[in-house]
Amino acid sequence: MRRSLKLFVLGSITAALLALYLRGPTFNAESLKGSRVLVTGASTGIGEQVAYHLAKAGAQIVITARRGNVLEQVVKKCMTMGAQKAVYIPADMSEASDPEKVVRFAVEQLGGLDYLVLNHIGPSPFAMWDGDVEHTRWLMQVNFLSYLQMAWKAIPTLEQSKGSIIVVSSVLGKMCTPFVGPYTATKFALNGFFGTMQHELAMKKSNVTVSICILGLIDTDSAMEKVRGYTNMTAYPASEAAWQIITAGVTRQPEIFYPWYAYYSGLFKDWFPFFRDMVIRGFYHYEP
Ligand SMILES: NC(=O)c1ccc[n+]([C@@H]2O[C@H](COP(=O)([O-])OP(=O)(O)OC[C@H]3O[C@@H](n4cnc5c(N)ncnc54)[C@H](OP(=O)(O)O)[C@@H]3O)[C@@H](O)[C@H]2O)c1
Ligand SMILES: *[C@@H]1O[C@H](CO)[C@@H](O)[C@H](O)[C@H]1NC(C)=O
Ligand SMILES: *[C@@H]1O[C@H](CO)[C@@H](O)[C@H](O)[C@H]1NC(C)=O
Repeated sequence: MRRSLKLFVLGSITAALLALYLRGPTFNAESLKGSRVLVTGASTGIGEQVAYHLAKAGAQIVITARRGNVLEQVVKKCMTMGAQKAVYIPADMSEASDPEKVVRFAVEQLGGLDYLVLNHIGPSPFAMWDGDVEHTRWLMQVNFLSYLQMAWKAIPTLEQSKGSIIVVSSVLGKMCTPFVGPYTATKFALNGFFGTMQHELAMKKSNVTVSICILGLIDTDSAMEKVRGYTNMTAYPASEAAWQIITAGVTRQPEIFYPWYAYYSGLFKDWFPFFRDMVIRGFYHYEP
């Protein structure tokens, strides 16, 4: 009896510590006041929510995406929410020179940069791969190569401010699922490349950190439209995902996971591959 009580107490303490650890770091939103942030893919979805959180905290923001008219509305809303400064620049990340142009614009507008939030993705069909290599090449430029161009261009100014690069990635950058070939390839590429960059910056004793955000299914319009009819998986709120992304950068976490299963799916995925693949295929509804 005494023994089981001891075990119970020990178990409870372990569970409490684990819960505390998994809850992750928190920070004072005041610290974002006046900070200079460039957010990509901020016309809709998670990027738009990142912009609103930053605005409420009194940050100075530059946002970008392709549609200037939509960005203009987001900028207006940011100003009413309390942003110290909010400007936009329309750009297409599939163009070779736009990624660097955007960083240059942000540094000029803000007089430097504290955070670079790399979040944009080009549209890609949610379907079995049909052999379209050209689309895959295009998506690699938009979702992956443009991230490298922007990060490299921003590093000198981030060195000065001891800033951070925040990379928005996905569970699909760690685990394979059907219908997302080109997309998952770009996310695996991001995780691999920026993982290397984390090592190299640390070895160079750089002032800059890289945070990689591993997200599960989030309830943005574009994601919901894609998975509709394919799966009944729960989608988590974009506003909360956006807050986790900001937290990752401010607290300089190398990697964060949202929601909770994003961490466990990566942790357990190689333990029982047969079982894993059965579960993954069971999630989707498909009639050949
Ligand atoms: N939603 C999810 O379930 C989910 C899950 C895991 C990870 N994520 C990640 O979270 C991030 C945001 O996802 P989201 O669902 O918020 O996406 P989204 O709503 O589709 O937004 C994509 C953003 O990228 C911009 N964009 C598209 N093509 C572009 C181009 N060629 N050049 C420049 N900008 C372009 C879009 O604006 P314009 O059309 O105006 O250019 C838009 O602002 C992505 O990195 C995604 O991989 C999302
Ligand atoms: C890091 O920042 C300090 C200023 O705070 C600067 O003197 C130093 O050169 C920076 N390091 C690098 C590698 O640029
Ligand atoms: C989702 O749930 C509905 C109702 O429970 C069901 O009819 C449908 O087949 C499910 N769809 C998938 C893809 O599992």
